[in-house]
Amino acid sequence: MKHIILDTDPGIDDALAFILAFNSPELKVEAVTTVAGNVNHMKGHRNAKKLLEFLGITDVPVCEGAVIPLIKKLSHAEEFHGKTGLGDSELPEPMMATDPRSAVDIILEKANELGKELTLVAIGPLTNIAVAILANPTLPEKVDKLVIMGGAFNLTPYGHGNANSVAEFNIWLDPEAAKIVFNSGIPIVAVGLDTTTHPDYRMSREMFEGIVSRGNRTTDLVNDLCKDLVERFNGFSLHDPQAMAYIIDPTMFTTEKYKVDVECSGELTRGMTVVERRLYRIVKDEANVDVVVKVEASRFLGLIKERISGE
Ligand code: BDR
Ligand code: CA
Repeated sequence: MKHIILDTDPGIDDALAFILAFNSPELKVEAVTTVAGNVNHMKGHRNAKKLLEFLGITDVPVCEGAVIPLIKKLSHAEEFHGKTGLGDSELPEPMMATDPRSAVDIILEKANELGKELTLVAIGPLTNIAVAILANPTLPEKVDKLVIMGGAFNLTPYGHGNANSVAEFNIWLDPEAAKIVFNSGIPIVAVGLDTTTHPDYRMSREMFEGIVSRGNRTTDLVNDLCKDLVERFNGFSLHDPQAMAYIIDPTMFTTEKYKVDVECSGELTRGMTVVERRLYRIVKDEANVDVVVKVEASRFLGLIKERISGE
């Protein structure tokens, strides 16, 4: 059983990652922490509670985190995720209380309690993780690792940007936070656009239709969440669920280790995850990120199908 903290900005694909996480006996979610990203923090936090209540989870603390990025101006992705952040879904207003601890408090508390048994999973901008590291610089050596959905590493033909030509949204939204995290020494596994937008690992229209044809309450939610994006983009990129799947079963994934840094100030390249590939410059000890470069498609898509089908 892997203990995780889920740091998130829900978000349509975040919602699928919730469904996957809470339907996976391999995982124990210790806390959900929220961060501004796809939608503003208030909406994202409310969405996290809505999703937990939908899933019948009442005993997992849900904690508020950063409402703005460290330095850059706040922006969102409502054109993709819809006004509420959860597509066309209409989940009831949540009743559950927010835990009084902040995201940083609970991350540091659980790291002390669980040490190397704890994996941090960040599927939104890295603001909370950066602030936790600034608050306690020993955090990186305490936990097992940080798995992120983030980055466009140019390691596959699909590893180009979605927020600009070269940057992935989560890193682009708060590049300074990402830079702190990438340079902190915390072991990082990055699931980036290189594999999440790879056509072989996306949810095809047919796969989506097969799932929603089951017509139960979970697949009805999946339908309301994803239908519009499936139509607009001829299928659905499983960004955040792919990061969650890595934790559930890393044997489906191939990674390569690189030294990666983050561009914060480029006029055209803000948020770019810059991979050092010059052989004569690569010092093995400096490699700081295991980047996912390949996924066993049938096993990965099979896991998604099985766990988000509500049966
Ligand atoms: C990432 O950005 C967000 O819009 C998604 O939720 C995902 O975490 C993909 O670039
Ligand atoms: Ca997200």
